[in-house]
Amino acid sequence: MSLQAEYGLGVSELYAMSKRGEKIACLTAYDASFAQVLDQAGVDIILVGDSLGMVIQGHDSTVSVSMEDMIYHSACVSSISKRALILVDMPFMSYSNIEQALFNATRLMQEGGAQMVKLEATERQSEIVAEMSACGIPVCAHLGLRPQYIHKLGGYQRQGQDSESAEQILQDAISLEKAGADLLLVECITHTLAAKIQQTVSIPVIGIGAGKNCDGQILVLQDILGITPGKTPSFAKNYLNEGGIQAAVQAYIAEVKSGDFPS
Ligand code: KIV
Repeated sequence: MSLQAEYGLGVSELYAMSKRGEKIACLTAYDASFAQVLDQAGVDIILVGDSLGMVIQGHDSTVSVSMEDMIYHSACVSSISKRALILVDMPFMSYSNIEQALFNATRLMQEGGAQMVKLEATERQSEIVAEMSACGIPVCAHLGLRPQYIHKLGGYQRQGQDSESAEQILQDAISLEKAGADLLLVECITHTLAAKIQQTVSIPVIGIGAGKNCDGQILVLQDILGITPGKTPSFAKNYLNEGGIQAAVQAYIAEVKSGDFPS
């Protein structure tokens, strides 16, 4: 068995994919059933996102998600996945200083089976990223729209729309790469800024609501299945045919009611 088959995709395979222009396909998952579907379908990165606060727990933001929640859902996903790289979010206020970040990232790796951790960052988090990287923790830095800052931002608006804020996000990307980040995730920034970041840094850049010019794309699984509770982001696309999961559930109910199931 090759090492890749044993450990799944690693950072070096992601780099190789971006160098040869092969797009990196990423989706979120929070449980073993969907993780297996995604893994067997060939998704490259499964993100156990703190979006679970919204799509699993029904809250209106990611702020209330705890370390225990992240460890529980990561363990569900990592226990079954064989090929995809398991990326796990560090929840709100779990990386506010170096010691706390190292402690919590270690828990996500050891107890949750994370192979890379993601934190919402600007250049202010560079020292934390540098220390994590030096300790052998693969890190993804999430830039642009940072949902954990929702109560400061006041809404989920596109970021980097004026030249000053766009320049700041570009500088954040450069600093975080220099600090040792292995991957960047850019959310809801202008297409031109995403392209500029992708051309400037040498690590892979994954986009969400950031246009085509990224090394890969990520979406929340529930958004592509059309089952997100509440509002679906405008950039998301429903990949199920009309009805989809809901139609299956309705057919089941109808067959139970009519006595056609079990046959
Ligand atoms: O938590 C999450 O699912 C995310 C994606 C929106 C990228 O961070």
